[in-house]
Amino acid sequence: TQVLGKNGPLAGKKLVISAGGTREPVDPVRYLGNRSSGKMGYALAEEAVRRGASVRLVSGAVDKPAPFGVDIKYTETAMEMFISLREAVKGADALIMTAAVADYRPEKPAADKIKKGDGELDLHLVANPDILASLQGDFVKVGFAAESRDLMINAVKKMADKNLDIIAANDISQPDSTFGSDTTRLTLFFKNGRIEEMPLMSKQEAAVRLLDELSALL
Ligand code: CTP
Ligand code: CA
Repeated sequence: TQVLGKNGPLAGKKLVISAGGTREPVDPVRYLGNRSSGKMGYALAEEAVRRGASVRLVSGAVDKPAPFGVDIKYTETAMEMFISLREAVKGADALIMTAAVADYRPEKPAADKIKKGDGELDLHLVANPDILASLQGDFVKVGFAAESRDLMINAVKKMADKNLDIIAANDISQPDSTFGSDTTRLTLFFKNGRIEEMPLMSKQEAAVRLLDELSALL
């Protein structure tokens, strides 16, 4: 008998994928979030399952059903995502980090709902850990970068700083490649210096292309 999802070119491989945006609480009813839709990460999870991989998807808040055959864990804050991913990468073959992680969080969320006052409200933010840079191990690491300027310089610097094998950079100054879009225009930068400029395509197609490249490294 065939075990569903365990046949294919990635059978026996364990992939960890993060997706969506984080939410950092301000008070019991408010948060700091971002416009990440989760589409890229969910498309990658679906494609990896199709290829027989065992997939752990660590998802921020997204307006999407869980992909079929994926082991999903929902997280809210960057710290929660960090803790889940730290566990998930143990024994993993690859980590693909598509999540839009908040760089900052309110230092101390208010225990009670903040009442409006007459004047201004100051929110003090502290830095979140860099999850991708912190997670090190014997697995292939793929990062994403959304840049509005100096795409190549910024992407290559992030690849080095976070010790990545591939960084998929997305030029969000292009009108068809914005956050939340169904399409994306990615440029892949590889550790060995190779650059693969991909045309505008659906996030499903981009997932296929990226997993082809990743599979060659596994
Ligand atoms: N990332 C992460 N943890 C963070 C911030 C980012 O793991 N606290 C990951 C993202 O998931 C992405 C990659 O690092 O895969 C690049 O994220 P990006 O926001 O583009 O880069 P930063 O290093 O945060 O730099 P900046 O926002 O200043 O451009
Ligand atoms: Ca950032």
